[in-house]
Amino acid sequence: MLGVAGGIAAYKAAELCRALVQRGYTVQVVMTKAATEFIQPLTFAALTGRKVVTSLFSSGNSEETLSSAVEHIAIAQEHDLLVVAPATADILAKFAHGLADDFLSTLYLAFTGPVVLAPAMNTNMWRHAATQANLEALRARGHKIVEPEDGFLACGMIGPGRLADPESIADVVAEQLEHRHDLAGETVLITAGPTQEPLDPVRFISNRSSGKMGYALAEAAAERGARVILISGPVHLPAPRGATVVPVKTAGEMRDAVFGNLRGATMVIKAAAVADFHLSTVPQQKIKKTAARLSLELDPTPDILAELGRDKKDWLLIGFAAETENLEREARRKLQTKNCDMIVANLVGGDESGFESDHNEIALALKTGEFLRFPRASKRELADEILTQALHLRHVLAEPAHER
Ligand code: CTP
Repeated sequence: MLGVAGGIAAYKAAELCRALVQRGYTVQVVMTKAATEFIQPLTFAALTGRKVVTSLFSSGNSEETLSSAVEHIAIAQEHDLLVVAPATADILAKFAHGLADDFLSTLYLAFTGPVVLAPAMNTNMWRHAATQANLEALRARGHKIVEPEDGFLACGMIGPGRLADPESIADVVAEQLEHRHDLAGETVLITAGPTQEPLDPVRFISNRSSGKMGYALAEAAAERGARVILISGPVHLPAPRGATVVPVKTAGEMRDAVFGNLRGATMVIKAAAVADFHLSTVPQQKIKKTAARLSLELDPTPDILAELGRDKKDWLLIGFAAETENLEREARRKLQTKNCDMIVANLVGGDESGFESDHNEIALALKTGEFLRFPRASKRELADEILTQALHLRHVLAEPAHER
């Protein structure tokens, strides 16, 4: 589906449309009312050989246009990807906030597949905090943003805002469609969030993990066609679409849930921040404030990842390492000692990335000996990167060692 919003760059959408048709895609064009002020639906109808959807409620049913109040559901279900070019400040705001007052914004809400957005607008509108906040929200949702280019704009200003080159937008569309089903047939077992280790009936020890990284991985894997089992410690996040969530509280419960759901898994990703110590015998009653000082003797929890490493079958094993220092050394050490195929390492403790943030800066230590660093990005973007690297790694590890 190619969404065309009402901006001066709408005419360039015709070039993108042609590029997509030339690459062999079936293209359904959806125009906002404002877009039809800039370019005629007939242009797109001629390029695609299909009727163009113009607006949700208008009944201007000519030969080239099509409109109905329920059609957005059918169209959303029939198509694999939505690309919007040009994406105006207005359509980005609608998408970010879930407004649905025309066909395109309604279609967006009804669509569950990958979304590519190619913004184009005046430089000041692009730089505005509201637009940037909307873009952040859309990125965090896993949508691909094809950044506008710097250049001379229709309004006479020079700066960022010009629609990206149609061929490069088509490249991003192709890349997204390639990912679309690349995890079909996989069963991905993911752990996420913190664990809570009770001290008495009302208190527990836990950590600052929000679960966002594990949930982003679950969402990305499900979108790419995998069957996803998400074993989650206590978090405040909605269940990712398409994943089966198994809620747990303690490290012991998480261990049992992992081994109970391991059958058929092809990838195991241990993003959870499991407590390392717990009280093995929890008092039945609340601890009273009687003594001046309280000492608690804690015992180690089961190291789930290490146990999986010892018992390793043909699933790909991916662990995490949250470090406050010596990132590479610690990641490599955990890769070895826990017998993993990959360790996703991240520095925690700063403000800008780590536990509670929507962003992170990670590096991957791979069984092949490589250590790859990635720039700061949203957890959802990193989730896709980790899954892509995991698929590639499995491919490499399957080759005979001398051919690597
Ligand atoms: N992990 C686990 N079970 C535990 C502790 C950790 O499965 N009881 C897993 C985590 O899910 C993560 C990896 O081990 O994938 C590394 O966790 P981390 O806390 O960084 O390392 P630790 O093994 O606890 O080592 P250390 O505390 O020395 O850094």
